[in-house]
Amino acid sequence: MKVSQRLQKVPMSGIRKMFDLASPSSINLGLGEPDLLPPAKAIDGMTAAAENGLNKYGPTAGIMELRKAVAERYSMYHPLEASQVMITPSGSSALLEIMMSCIDPGDEVLVPSPGFVIYGPQAMLAGGRFTEYRMSGPDFQPDIDDIQSKIGPDTRMIVVNNPSNPTGSVLAEDTYGALADLAADKGITILSDEVYDSFVYEGRHLSFLPYLDRAIVVGGFSKMMAVTGWRLGFLMAGEEMMDALVKMQYHLCASPNMPAMYGALAAMPGIDDYLKDARTIFKRRRDLIVSRIMEIDGMDVATPHGAFYAFPSYDADIPSADLAMRLAEAGLICTPGSAFGSYGEGHLRFSYAADEAKISRGMDILAETYGKVRE
Ligand SMILES: Cc1ncc(COP(=O)(O)O)c(C=O)c1O
Repeated sequence: MKVSQRLQKVPMSGIRKMFDLASPSSINLGLGEPDLLPPAKAIDGMTAAAENGLNKYGPTAGIMELRKAVAERYSMYHPLEASQVMITPSGSSALLEIMMSCIDPGDEVLVPSPGFVIYGPQAMLAGGRFTEYRMSGPDFQPDIDDIQSKIGPDTRMIVVNNPSNPTGSVLAEDTYGALADLAADKGITILSDEVYDSFVYEGRHLSFLPYLDRAIVVGGFSKMMAVTGWRLGFLMAGEEMMDALVKMQYHLCASPNMPAMYGALAAMPGIDDYLKDARTIFKRRRDLIVSRIMEIDGMDVATPHGAFYAFPSYDADIPSADLAMRLAEAGLICTPGSAFGSYGEGHLRFSYAADEAKISRGMDILAETYGKVRE
């Protein structure tokens, strides 16, 4: 049977390859999902919905109550109407729906590097192509000069991810302003992936919601409520773009998961308290992993101010895929920096969505194995 050319050209994610290596006894710091329990209200709400017969198709853009609850919450960044929110079957599918709705064959999408692994492949699945732009400096900011030099006649979209997976960096005010201006000047759409907006430990989250004339914003319940398996997310767009996105979603899936939407809805009123506790836990772990990495000769890491990843660099002359393999053999799973694009080489990504005992044991393995690699 024939597989489409588009799909054949797309590589398999380097993250999944590392999962396949994990043995049950390994310390797994490769996972990009919170290890916390979801809010109890979310589980109760989803169970009640399923028990009460809400197991049928729903409205294509999601149930109005949840669209309203998201609009109310995200009005903390900029006033938002429920009509500007669509619930989606995950943040990942929101990203794909946006690419499919905005990109034509031959169009170019600029994606961050190091950056989340699916942006480039999704641009290709939509029939376009992608070019990496550099996240530069110790705090991994989008390099505006690099972006400007890469904008060509076919550039339609710039993907921004804030806070960033894999670096944990948080967008700085000047870079944010420069991106918003650039998009307006050149008539380029910003696809702003903000699924980690609830996980900012210092500074504040700068959302692209005030710029829905030139940006589409993606959010998610996966990380917010520790429900990665529910497959539920959302996007926020100006009303004209929203019509196109709703049409796309209808053809993709008809409607999002009904019981999961009721679960998320039930948890929204108390979500600030839940997230405050989650941030306290993650910040403690962040401080632990950063201090342990900094004790290792030849490794360096900028303190990540958001998400739940540390992205250290190392000085040994070894590709990150080989180093990650050596660590996997020693019982520690992480992700090689090269999985996140060509500017990710020379780094490793560790998720600190794991308890402190696991992080400590993982860092023991890292110190010992990296010491041997450097000998
Ligand atoms: C930066 C980023 N965006 C989007 C997603 C997709 O999340 P989900 O599809 O679970 O909503 C992830 C998941 O790891 C991510 O790291």
